[in-house]
Amino acid sequence: MKDVISIRDFSRADLDLLVQNALELKQGNADKSEKKRKVASLFFEPSTRTRTSSEVAAELDDHYVNGFAGTEGTSVKKGEPLADTVRMYEGYDFNAIVMRHTLEGAARLASDYVKIPVINGGDGPNGHPTQAMLDLMTIKEAKGKIDDLKVAFVGDLKYGRTVHSLLQAFEHYDVTPWLIAPNNVSLPEWRVKEYEANTGKKVVISDNLLDAIRNVDVLYMTRIQRERFPQGKEGDDEYEKVSWIYKLNAEILKSAHPNLKVMHPLPRYKNNLEVALDVDATSHALYFEQARNGMFMRQAILRKVFGDGFEGKKKEAVDEKYAEELPIGTPRSKKENLYVFNNGTLIDHLELGGGYKIKPLLRLMDYHDSPIIIGNNVPSAKYGQKDVYCLVDFFLTPEQTWKLGLISDRATINILKEGKVQRKFKVVLPSQLEGLIECQNRNCISRPEHFEHAKSRFYVESRQPLKLRCHYCEKPVGREEMKVIY
Ligand code: NCD
Repeated sequence: MKDVISIRDFSRADLDLLVQNALELKQGNADKSEKKRKVASLFFEPSTRTRTSSEVAAELDDHYVNGFAGTEGTSVKKGEPLADTVRMYEGYDFNAIVMRHTLEGAARLASDYVKIPVINGGDGPNGHPTQAMLDLMTIKEAKGKIDDLKVAFVGDLKYGRTVHSLLQAFEHYDVTPWLIAPNNVSLPEWRVKEYEANTGKKVVISDNLLDAIRNVDVLYMTRIQRERFPQGKEGDDEYEKVSWIYKLNAEILKSAHPNLKVMHPLPRYKNNLEVALDVDATSHALYFEQARNGMFMRQAILRKVFGDGFEGKKKEAVDEKYAEELPIGTPRSKKENLYVFNNGTLIDHLELGGGYKIKPLLRLMDYHDSPIIIGNNVPSAKYGQKDVYCLVDFFLTPEQTWKLGLISDRATINILKEGKVQRKFKVVLPSQLEGLIECQNRNCISRPEHFEHAKSRFYVESRQPLKLRCHYCEKPVGREEMKVIY
């Protein structure tokens, strides 16, 4: 693995090695790298630290750097799709791309189009993996360890991508996260649930900054991400509610443990400082060192990307089957059946209302050859009620078969030939779904309104209950929120 798109893709060993390598680079203990490469630095969104430290890191190893800082003056302004922009740099023989973009999943989309490694320098509010890596390095350097710590995230935990990535990285360590945020910018529920499910640990949710100051090892302050709030009055009102909240200053820090460290990905907001300037001179302030560490971490990342790459997190093998064979029971007498036909497909045990979704789902609009019989609200011994759908003289393709899994958890299919059930099976969704579900995250690059022509793609993460994850923005969806494209 040579891309750095999401912390989700990394193993603990990868993260530990990067931290170790970056600390060695900082101490000046590492050898010089051998080969000159070309690094594209493509910043579609404002940046000071991520861009500069990435470019300086590349130059420390004598690589050539080119690209843009802001889209002014580029063909992005003429409406060029992201897929084309990144392919240009690959065509000019660049060896890697470091990029930042406002849309979630942008770096993932770029890496789908180019063979050269892509390093995500922030994709909207989704993630910022290299920041999480330099944050780990900074914690390790300051505390001598990452395990066994309490870390309080303070401020905008909804839009703050650095928080999202660092929290994901903490899943590999023994960290107790504290989440301190006003209600309307609290950490999305699904992120809390995933952290707890993946670690078996509880997060501490609090709105009491003082309590955190007295108890935790690291305070991770963040800026309210004004630019990610909705446009117009609604956004202004939301911002007003939180802009003044959680301010840290030297006075408040007097109640802190002397070893408490204050981190902040920076920038801080000068009109409404979440960390007052008088904190800078205290022994707690770690944020300038943290920012400086970015240079060493990004050098370590580039070396890995141009070297042997990363081991990556082991993915659980997912079964590719689309149907599960069921035993054929004893046939009932024809009189007992609501539907009597000799050849065709009987889709049984559908959830109520399911019968009406099948025609558009399976694109049977033009099918008029033989009757379709829909049994709606039929009594079922197993489920109480069900819908039943019969396609006389018609057999489904494998794709039509597994597509039923998009609308039903429990449908069974009976293939009838010469009046007898020949096969009976339960449908199972394949592990990857392309172009079938619309991501409900408006900021996801796969949404049609962004015109990036990214074909929607979801992975099946669990089948019972059904949980899918967007390939691009990484948001999970369950059956209830899932929007099937008919
Ligand atoms: C952060 C970012 O861009 O997400 N900055 C950074 O990369 N160090 C945080 C922020 O903008 O508030």
